[in-house]
Amino acid sequence: MKKFLIAGNWKMNKLTAEAAAFAKELKAKNFSNADEVAVLVPFTQLTAVGEGLAGSGIGFGAQNVHFEKSGAFTGEISVPMLEEIGVNYCIVGHSERREYFGETDETVNAKLKALIEAGITPILCVGESLAVREAQGEQTFVAGQLVADFNGLTREGAGKVVIAYEPIWAIGTGKTATPEQAEEMCAFIRGVIGGLYDNDLADKMLILYGGSMKASNAADLLAKPDINGGLIGGASLKIDDFSAIVDAAAQLK
Ligand code: 13P
Repeated sequence: MKKFLIAGNWKMNKLTAEAAAFAKELKAKNFSNADEVAVLVPFTQLTAVGEGLAGSGIGFGAQNVHFEKSGAFTGEISVPMLEEIGVNYCIVGHSERREYFGETDETVNAKLKALIEAGITPILCVGESLAVREAQGEQTFVAGQLVADFNGLTREGAGKVVIAYEPIWAIGTGKTATPEQAEEMCAFIRGVIGGLYDNDLADKMLILYGGSMKASNAADLLAKPDINGGLIGGASLKIDDFSAIVDAAAQLK
């Protein structure tokens, strides 16, 4: 049976009371596929969301982390700090962090290693800009990100990573990649991972699509063989919209 992960990336949204209420409502949905659902929330909302989801099977996690365990890094949050809260997941290398906060493939690589060592599942984001796609360079670009981001990861470590293909031109723009475009790149990513490691590992890897995924287009995207789920921004902020995407995945089981 195909495995999915439907992950909501709240980005910088929701104060604590709203976040806690959302977690409770999500738990109350009693999704049959709860263990294939997660929400990635602001650091300050992690504890409330974790408490609200406790016992639901739904995972939760952060949107970023620092790669050092501790030290003079003002304003940063470490992997042990996330571990203490009991998070299951952490996004790494989201295009907004690469674009606005100086995230590089080197820092992404260090963060992957730190999270894997702690047993927290990284959700690694890759994806090209509109200019790169218009120049038909998307496969070369994404392959370059993958090679750099997985640099030095053992087979065992690599097997813990979830990849999210998020074309930058589709994020928050309402412009979704077509199911065919998304499938083509997710299949390509699986091939790159197969080349870096082996096909058995690549076949088992969860590869998500992200970029204006919503209830109305989720089923078509999720039905594609190489798309194992979604990393959902805007549509993850409303319980009904997010639940509809979770249900779409359940119906494909
Ligand atoms: P949107 O779903 O709002 O396009 O955001 C996608 C995204 O960046 C998820 O990480």
